[in-house]
Amino acid sequence: MMSQEQNDLITRTGPADPAGKLMRKYWQPAALADELDGPRPVKAVKLLGEDFVLFRDENGAYGLLDRACPHRGADLAFGRLENGGLRCAFHGWLFDKDGQCLETPAEPEGSNLCRNIRQRAFPVVERSGILWAYLGEGEPPAFPEIDCFVAPEPYTFAFKGRIECNWLQALEVGIDPAHASFLHRFFHDEDPKAAYGKQFRAASAGSELPMTRILREYDRPIINVERTEYGMRLIALRLIDDERTHVRVTNQLFPHGFVIPMSAEMTITQWHVPVDDETCYWYAIFTSYGAPVDKKTMRDQRLELYQLPDYVSRKNKTNDYGFDPHEQATETYTGMGADINVHDQWAVESMGRIQDRTREHLGQSDKAIIQYRRLLKQEIEKAVSGARPLLSLDEAHARSIQGPATMDGIGPTRGWEIYWMEVDVKRRRAAPWAAPVPEEIATKLPHLSAAE
Ligand code: FES
Ligand SMILES: [Fe+2]
Repeated sequence: MMSQEQNDLITRTGPADPAGKLMRKYWQPAALADELDGPRPVKAVKLLGEDFVLFRDENGAYGLLDRACPHRGADLAFGRLENGGLRCAFHGWLFDKDGQCLETPAEPEGSNLCRNIRQRAFPVVERSGILWAYLGEGEPPAFPEIDCFVAPEPYTFAFKGRIECNWLQALEVGIDPAHASFLHRFFHDEDPKAAYGKQFRAASAGSELPMTRILREYDRPIINVERTEYGMRLIALRLIDDERTHVRVTNQLFPHGFVIPMSAEMTITQWHVPVDDETCYWYAIFTSYGAPVDKKTMRDQRLELYQLPDYVSRKNKTNDYGFDPHEQATETYTGMGADINVHDQWAVESMGRIQDRTREHLGQSDKAIIQYRRLLKQEIEKAVSGARPLLSLDEAHARSIQGPATMDGIGPTRGWEIYWMEVDVKRRRAAPWAAPVPEEIATKLPHLSAAE
């Protein structure tokens, strides 16, 4: 069991907190790129407990500044976009994307006051439909060359959703392979053809068995966890019979992301970004190895649940997540409908804003969570001591982080160790954008990964 101090250490991410120092060594999703579409590309953003204003200037460059004006503290999120920057609506001070004050129009003619005024400013870049900000000191790290960043634009789709709880419990549901057999259980199977864009509904790769049936009938997975260069690999095995085993390979992407399969064609790479210590956003990039992503369908599907402008779920604590006891008796494990995002959101929000880990009892099925927390503490120590933590990369190293292999399928009970790599490599090689085979796998499967 964990002490309160330990729980605080791994959950709190303000500027003075150790885990906050760790988080500030990474690019953080600050907004979806399309949140700045429209005539006034200015948006208030709260990230890691701090308030900022995000904007795109007249030259198309992005800026992220502290939100309170350095003159007398008015809110720059209500500012005017003009003259190459963002102008405070109170007395007209103008700031460029680097935070330099360019004009203080109420000051006497010839005043030099603005020269010495600089608002804190942070770099922002767009990658795969997300605007990423770097809140740390020094040079920002390089992006790893993982699939969701390598895939061309037509093959990715980005979305987000708000969760009313600490980032860590939102992440931990994604490295908990056992929960899918319970929380996401459906008592009946759907036609897999109607499954586009949905998780756990299609047939598992290499089989006619719907994923819903496998998860329902084989609920005691064997979970293997390996440390990797990017975080952890989880392999969950569900033994069907002597011949067949369901294999699901997911990844923890350090510090606050995961990569999971959505269907035979797509994966989801998802980060759990602290707004503050009691609220987070999930940001996801859906990556297709098959046809280009049907972005409109995927967005429309998600907008049925998530409400703009804040991407808040329509099913939430205020309406019991749509809980229906009759449905719980006959259709689903939760009684909260078919959308697995709702299930996950209920699970993590119902634990409280910051889960009280001094009262939990972990079992063997929680082994990935246990190992992740150990890793997190170790990397927090590194960050606090000024060393580079895991996956805070320089350019050269960033190129060596590829993949990661992520899949779901039914393979041989004897030979699953090779099978999941083969499935992943075949999909990469068939992808229209020729997704690179991660080096680690290329060395283990030279017959498959060598170029023909
Ligand atoms: S408070 Fe912003 S210009 Fe005065
Ligand atoms: Fe889940």
